[in-house]
Amino acid sequence: MNNTDKDEPYFGRGNPAMQLEVVKAMGSYVYDANGKKYVDFLGGAGVGNLGWGIEEIEEAIRKKDRPAYVYPNFHYKPWNELAELLAELAPGKLQKAYRMTGGSEAVDAALEMATMYTGRKKILSVEGSYHGNTMGALSIGATKKRKSFPNLLEGCEKLELPLNREKLDRVKKLLSTKDFSAVIMEPVIINLGVVIPEAEFMKGLDKICKETSTLLIMDEAITGFGRTGKMFASEHFDIEPDILCMAKAITAGHAGMGAVMTTLAIDEKIGGEIGLYSSYEWHPISVDASLAALHYLQKDQKRLFQNIEQLAETFKKGIPEVNFRKKPEVRIKGAAIGVEVHEEDYALNIKQKALEKGLLMNTEGSSLLFLPNFQMTQKTALEGLDLLKSCA
Ligand SMILES: Cc1ncc(COP(=O)(O)O)c(C=O)c1O
Repeated sequence: MNNTDKDEPYFGRGNPAMQLEVVKAMGSYVYDANGKKYVDFLGGAGVGNLGWGIEEIEEAIRKKDRPAYVYPNFHYKPWNELAELLAELAPGKLQKAYRMTGGSEAVDAALEMATMYTGRKKILSVEGSYHGNTMGALSIGATKKRKSFPNLLEGCEKLELPLNREKLDRVKKLLSTKDFSAVIMEPVIINLGVVIPEAEFMKGLDKICKETSTLLIMDEAITGFGRTGKMFASEHFDIEPDILCMAKAITAGHAGMGAVMTTLAIDEKIGGEIGLYSSYEWHPISVDASLAALHYLQKDQKRLFQNIEQLAETFKKGIPEVNFRKKPEVRIKGAAIGVEVHEEDYALNIKQKALEKGLLMNTEGSSLLFLPNFQMTQKTALEGLDLLKSCA
């Protein structure tokens, strides 16, 4: 499939298009221009944690009494309000929120912060990971991308999977050089098909970071705001991130935005000097959307998190009933569901068949990736799983 499949003579794309022209998205369903309805296990790749068309968020966006734009170096009260709310939701000692337009920018800013704070140049990340599309984010992401972008930052070392106790020796060897400003990873690696690091690895990593004064950056662009069944996936482990990246579900998909949170100690050293500025950071519309989305999540947290648990059970039970070519490996953390089907072509084939039958999903290599929203009913989840059965 390439860009000429659809009539888009003026419109550039970085990735091949899926044959689906969206006209409406509501609750757990997406509708195309022919009126066909799709069960949404894709969730806008993790953006839509609450489902689509949330009235409270739509209403906040429609509100008219706000400035069209606020220059980032002015004061604007809702920025403080949102920053305070993020500090309330964020784990550990993370208190200061920096304004970003999205996840890639948040990751680059986090790397800059760590480099400036420690004065060290190297970064340690996880091989094959995805942290966004800017040069900084690509530098710490999958090494194979280097072939397309030879000018990526030097000094990025990668840890291979599995992330277990044995891997700590390598971490110690590298970080003991004190050349590394930070380790960056997703606490649950959704972008590798929901890879869950061993608890002992995470605890050991945190300890080695502290011993070597290396910062621990958790990229929660996709895991944040409840996706794994905790407000932030870092909370599954005994760790204290120094910097945490947020994006995607920060507005539940209703406007573009991101954030980087850090501690007071780090902020004291670099704040006001690091020069992080972008024209559209925390645009007033995005801030209203985010406040509404996060208040909704906070207010209904108990109900939503209970439903996440139920969904996890439904998928845990339903996936083994699908007749895949080989027994799949199922990895579930809350509403992040990875199904390793062992062959990339097979995974892509299932995704394509599912699209034709009315089920949306993502793939990561040879894994299927399902990111249902937290309000998806049991009935809809079963409807999707039934469709999946006919695609395997
Ligand atoms: C873990 C992670 N980091 C960063 C990004 C980049 O975010 P954005 O697409 O908002 O730039 C993504 C997007 O998929 C992500 O999953």
